[in-house]
Amino acid sequence: MAVEVLHEEKDHTFFWLGKDESGLEEGVQANQYLIVDGGQGLLIDPGGFGVFSRVLVNLSHHIDPQSIRDIFLCHQDPDVGGSLASWFEMTPACVHVSELWIRFLLHYGVNDVHRFRGIPDGGGSLTFPSGRKVDFIPAHFLHSPGNFHLFDHSSGILFTGDIGAAVYPKGQTPTFVTNFEEHVRYMEGFHGRYIPTNQVIQAWLARVRKLPVRMIVPQHGSIFREESVGKFFEWIGGIRCGLETMNL
Ligand SMILES: [Fe+2]
Ligand SMILES: [Fe+2]
Repeated sequence: MAVEVLHEEKDHTFFWLGKDESGLEEGVQANQYLIVDGGQGLLIDPGGFGVFSRVLVNLSHHIDPQSIRDIFLCHQDPDVGGSLASWFEMTPACVHVSELWIRFLLHYGVNDVHRFRGIPDGGGSLTFPSGRKVDFIPAHFLHSPGNFHLFDHSSGILFTGDIGAAVYPKGQTPTFVTNFEEHVRYMEGFHGRYIPTNQVIQAWLARVRKLPVRMIVPQHGSIFREESVGKFFEWIGGIRCGLETMNL
């Protein structure tokens, strides 16, 4: 399946932009997402240079790249925005990212600093011409010190970047979590090492548990829906990670 519609209502669609079906993409498996609202696009974590052509082909079936007006980067990593220079050429989009990272992202070969919209530490939002809104939810230190998640109010979908990441053997990542208890083993390594301390998880949970989350869509691994959403919140709230597990 190249593209999956995760939510659809009048003039508002949330797409998952598919996996590598060629087997040729290198590096950690990554998901990309697209919201199309009233014909206008918001691209979420477009990915590294090596996935650019696949993401462009997949989204072109649903939107003219010239109609992508916004790109969201949850943080600065190359698997999130390494393709940015190509998206600058293909779209007129503004890039929403933590203001901490703009001067570093210029090293991805982009030259127009005026297209960046720095998100302050407290978060922000984006309102489509239709009036529908997405929020940029602070998720600092999960794992990056300047890090945001994205909540789409219309669909109840929470994009969580690296939180909820699962690393399966190449080519074996299921699109949706079907057996949460089995899935945990593929999440433990990443969360235990990349999150600095459980304290930041608790701060994040206090925020996101107030939201009407119907689905959690991470940048790596599988999508959580139905009862696996609550199970994920329970699981991550109880993990030991980072400083709690290392002898420094
Ligand atoms: Fe990352
Ligand atoms: Fe990532």
